[in-house]
Amino acid sequence: MDSSLIRLDREPKRLIMIGGKGGVGKSTCASAIALHFSLQGKKTLIISSDPTPSLSDIFETEIGDQETPIKNTKNLYGIEISSESVLKKWKERFGPEIYEVVSSFANVDYDFVEYIGGAPGIEEEYMLNYILELVESEQYDMVVWDTAPAGHTLKLLHLPQIFLRHLEAATKFYMNLYSYFEKLKEGIKLKKGKRTLLEIISGWENLAEKVVGFIRDREKTDFIIVTIPEALGVRQTERIIRNFNEYQLIVNHLIVNYVIQEADCEFHRLRKEMQQHYLEILRNQYTPRIKLIELPLLPQEVKGVERIGRISEILFKP
Ligand SMILES: Nc1ncnc2c1ncn2[C@@H]1O[C@H](COP(=O)(O)OP(=O)(O)O)[C@@H](O)[C@H]1O
Ligand SMILES: [Mg+2]
Repeated sequence: MDSSLIRLDREPKRLIMIGGKGGVGKSTCASAIALHFSLQGKKTLIISSDPTPSLSDIFETEIGDQETPIKNTKNLYGIEISSESVLKKWKERFGPEIYEVVSSFANVDYDFVEYIGGAPGIEEEYMLNYILELVESEQYDMVVWDTAPAGHTLKLLHLPQIFLRHLEAATKFYMNLYSYFEKLKEGIKLKKGKRTLLEIISGWENLAEKVVGFIRDREKTDFIIVTIPEALGVRQTERIIRNFNEYQLIVNHLIVNYVIQEADCEFHRLRKEMQQHYLEILRNQYTPRIKLIELPLLPQEVKGVERIGRISEILFKP
């Protein structure tokens, strides 16, 4: 049975999203996958959106919210982005036009932009958009996204619904406000904004649709879930995959981490038996629809380019 990530090597996949709960080895796998592509000569970017990112530790390089070349590698860059920096970018980009339009008919100060910036879904929407801009900038051949733990990733998937619902409500609200002001100021000419609010909002809607279209496009985006061979892992994987399916997102690979290879004592024999039981459940449930890859538990923590390289070799073993 072909059980490695080798299929990812097909062109032209551009974005690889790694999901799963905290502590299962997402960042380790994301790093190994990114390193693999960089070693093939592909200019690769690894992004972490985890509020407690670990790329800096894994690669022993200080990575911040700007693209940073990773020490002891070629073609490999990293970013650790935070919600704050994403919201800041959003405000820089959309703040002035929102203010311009709304202040043309209502008496609001600039805090209003903050208020809109706090709308549900905006942060997630912009996070995705920011990442897609990096993917589409053609600056990189491959972008690997080490997502925040499962709950957060699922929140990202709710984005189109929540965000668009919010926009709809906001549009109605602003249009009512607008007509109210028009009536009120009968005869008084309203200052005309360069763009109407409706145009801005439909621009956002297009953005959201584009983002969702991109992550749904199997030629452009791959989803990999990392899990553990335990009851908890089985349950969580089920939930994540069901949620993904609801959003028409297809998981291609399931990496089962911390698998005990050889048990040379009673303790490890028992653990191995337990793991094999859950591995069997996962196999029955998902293969061949989803490719299942076992990643052995290594004796050491996975830190530094050399050890990450070992994981790449296992994951991409032909
Ligand atoms: N296969 C493995 N063998 C040994 N240690 C591992 C393995 N995979 C991950 N680790 C270690 O487990 C810890 C958690 O992994 P990490 O990738 O940071 O998880 P996550 O990003 O899902 O929270 C790290 O210390 C990492 O070095
Ligand atoms: Mg992590």
